[in-house]
Amino acid sequence: MVDLWTISEASFEPRRLRHNETVFTVGNGYLGTRGAFEEAYPGDQRTTFVHGVFDNLPIFFSELVNFPDWLELEIILAGEHFDLAEGKLLSFERHLDLRNGLLTRTLRWRSPAGRTTRMEFRRFASLADVHAACLQATLTPEDYSGKIEFRSGLDGGTDNLSFKHWDWLGQGTEDQTCWLHLRTHSSQIEAAMAVRLQVESGAAVATENWDVHAHPTLACSTDAEPGQTVRLEKIVSIFTGRDTQDPLSAARKKLASLTGRNWDALWREHAKAWKEEWRRCDVVIEGDDEAQLAIRFNIYHLLIAGPRYDEHVNIGAKTLSGYGYRGHAFWDTEIFMLPFFTFTRPEIARNLLSYRYHNLPGAREKAAENGFKGAQYPWESAGDGREVTPTWVPNPNDRTRMIRIWTGDIEIHISADIAFAAWQYWTASHDEEFLVERGAEIILETARFWASRAEWNQKRGDYEFKDVIGPDEYHDHVDNNAYTNLMARWHLRLARSIVDWLKEHHPAKAARLFEKIDLKEDNLERWQQIADHIYRPVNPKTGLIEQFEGYFKRKDVSLESLEPRNESAQSLFGIDGANEVQIIKQPDVAMLMYLLPGELEPAYAKVNYDYYTERTDLTFGSSLGPSIQAIMATRLGTPGQAYENFIRAARADLEDVRGNAGDGIHGASAGGLWQAVVFGFGGLQISDEGWTLTPKLPAHWKRLAFKFVWRGEEVKVDLKGEDGAGH
Ligand code: BGC
Repeated sequence: MVDLWTISEASFEPRRLRHNETVFTVGNGYLGTRGAFEEAYPGDQRTTFVHGVFDNLPIFFSELVNFPDWLELEIILAGEHFDLAEGKLLSFERHLDLRNGLLTRTLRWRSPAGRTTRMEFRRFASLADVHAACLQATLTPEDYSGKIEFRSGLDGGTDNLSFKHWDWLGQGTEDQTCWLHLRTHSSQIEAAMAVRLQVESGAAVATENWDVHAHPTLACSTDAEPGQTVRLEKIVSIFTGRDTQDPLSAARKKLASLTGRNWDALWREHAKAWKEEWRRCDVVIEGDDEAQLAIRFNIYHLLIAGPRYDEHVNIGAKTLSGYGYRGHAFWDTEIFMLPFFTFTRPEIARNLLSYRYHNLPGAREKAAENGFKGAQYPWESAGDGREVTPTWVPNPNDRTRMIRIWTGDIEIHISADIAFAAWQYWTASHDEEFLVERGAEIILETARFWASRAEWNQKRGDYEFKDVIGPDEYHDHVDNNAYTNLMARWHLRLARSIVDWLKEHHPAKAARLFEKIDLKEDNLERWQQIADHIYRPVNPKTGLIEQFEGYFKRKDVSLESLEPRNESAQSLFGIDGANEVQIIKQPDVAMLMYLLPGELEPAYAKVNYDYYTERTDLTFGSSLGPSIQAIMATRLGTPGQAYENFIRAARADLEDVRGNAGDGIHGASAGGLWQAVVFGFGGLQISDEGWTLTPKLPAHWKRLAFKFVWRGEEVKVDLKGEDGAGH
C-alpha cells in the first residue's frame, strides 16, 4: 500500500541534491533547515534560516542569514572518513514523515578499504519547543571492528552563497556541550546556539573539546565490533536577539533544561504538537494518491514556515527553505498562503497580518518618498517593512549587463492585496480586536494611498492608475491594469464600510484612530468619489476586460506556436519582446475574477476566462498561476483544465517542474494548492453573510474531507462521490 504521509527518495542522485535539500527541509515556524546531509557533500547548501534574522547585502538590500551549521557531523570509521563521494553506496533511502516532520536517512556504505557500515540518521526541529532541534546517528559496523569517531559542533563559518554575515562574539566548550555567540554584521542581531553531544556504545566513550575559533567542536570516540551499534545524539538550542536580550544565556539555559531529556522525551512532545496541527489542518483526498500526498506535502511546508510566536515576521516567497528571493515576502503571503492559515490556523494568520501592521511606518515612508499619502506597502519586504526589491540585477545571460527591476517602483497592487487579506481574515474570524486595533489602520492607510495615487482624466471623466505592473509581470509600465484598478476600487469602498462599522460598534476607538491617522469626513467623500469613477475597462458588448489599456493592440501570438519549448515566453522573446505580445505570465484578469467575483457580471466570466486562458503561460510562467487557473476552471465548468492545472501546482516542488525548486519551496504555489482543493474543488466561498459550499470534485476523487474555522467554530466538510454533491 502506498504511504500517503511520507515523501521518499529511493536512491541517492547527486544531480538532485539541491532539489531534495529543499523538499526535505525540516522546520517549526521559527527555523528552517534544508535537507543537507550530516556529513558534507560537494555542492551542498548547509542552510538554516531563522525568521526575521536579516542582514544587509548589496543589490538585494537585505537577506535572511544562514545560521551556524548544526547538522555537521564528521564520522571516521576505523580511520576512514565517511564520505558519499567516495567508496560505494550499497543502499540509500530517505524519508520525510509528514505526520511529524521526522527526516530519516538509512544507508549502507562500503569504505574505499572495503569496510561496510549500516547507518541511520534522523532529525527534527521541535514543534513543541521551537528553540530546540535534535539529530541522531546510529551506526553499525557490519564486517569490521575498530574505532568509531565523531566530530561535531557548531560551524560558524557558514556563509550565504559566499557572502559572510556573522561577526564572532564568543564561544566555549564544557563537558559534552559547546556554544557559539555571533552577531550579524550590519543589522546587529545577536544569535547564540548551544549543543550537547551524547554517544552510547557498548564500549567506553572518550570525549574531547576542541575550541576551534568560530567552530567549537566535540570529538567523541568509541570502539565497536561487527554488529554492535553506536548511537550519537545531538541536541541543539537556538535563540536570537529578536527573542531575548541575552540570547547566549537563553541558549545555554535551554540546553541545560533539556539535559536528561533524551531524544525520546523531546520526540514525544514534538510528535504530539504535530498531531494537533494535522487534526486541524489535514485534507483527505481518496481516489487520487498523488493529490493526497502532494496536498499534505504542501501543507507540511506551510506549517513549518508559519510563525507561531512572532508577529514581526512574514513568510518569504521561498519560505525558510532556500535562498530564492533572499527571504523577502511578497503578495505571495497575503493572497496565496494566508488563506490556508486564516481558515485552519487563524493565530498564525493574525501574526502574519500583524507583521504588516507593525510595518506601517515603512509603508508610510514609501508612500511619502514617492510623493503619495497614506501607506504604500513594499513589493518585497524583509525585516523592517521597507522596500527591498532590487532595482538592478545582473542579466543571467550576460553578467556584464544589468536589468532594471521595476516591480518595487510600480507593482502597487500589493497594498490592496494586503487589505484584501485583512478583510478575509476579519470575515472568517470576526476577530474584532484585530480589526479595531490593527486591521482597520492597515485598510484605511492603504486606501488613502490609492486616493492620492489615482489620477483624474479630464477627457474621459474618470480616475486612472497609470504606469503600473499588474500580476502579469511580462507587461510593465502599463496604464489602467484592470486588476489594480478594480482591487483599488473595492479597497476604497471597503475602507468606507470599515469606517461606518467602526463608528457604529466602537465609536470611542474609532474616534481615536481617525485622530491618529488624521482621517476626516471629506477624505471619505473623496474616496467614494474616486471609487465610483475608477476606469473599468470592460467592453459593454462582449464583456471582455482589457487587461490594461492597449493590451488588445499587442501582437496576438499563440502559445502553441512556441512549442516545443522548455523555457518561459519571456525568456524566448526577451523582456522587451514579451512586452509586445499578448502572452501573459500568470492569471491577471482571472485573478481579479477569483478574488472579487462580484466586480464583474457573471455572464462575462467565461468569455474572459477563455480569452486569457489561451494566452497564459501556465507551464513556464509564474508558479503562482496554475492553482488560480485550476480554481477558475472549476468554477467555470472546465474540469479537464482544472485538474491539469491543479496537478501542475501539485508537482511544482515535488517534481521540480520549473527546475528551480533548489532555491526553496514555492510558498505561493503551496498555499494556492490548498486553495485549489478547498475553494476550487471543495467550492468554499465566503462573504459577510457566511460561507457556502458548491463542490465540484474531479471525477476520479472518491472523497474530499477538510476542516476550516469559521468565526471560532470548527466546520468539518466531508464530500463523497464523483462530483461531490452533498456533504
Ligand atoms: C511572480 C510574482 C511573485 C514573485 C515571488 C514572480 O515571478 O510573477 O507574482 O510575487 O515571483 O514569488
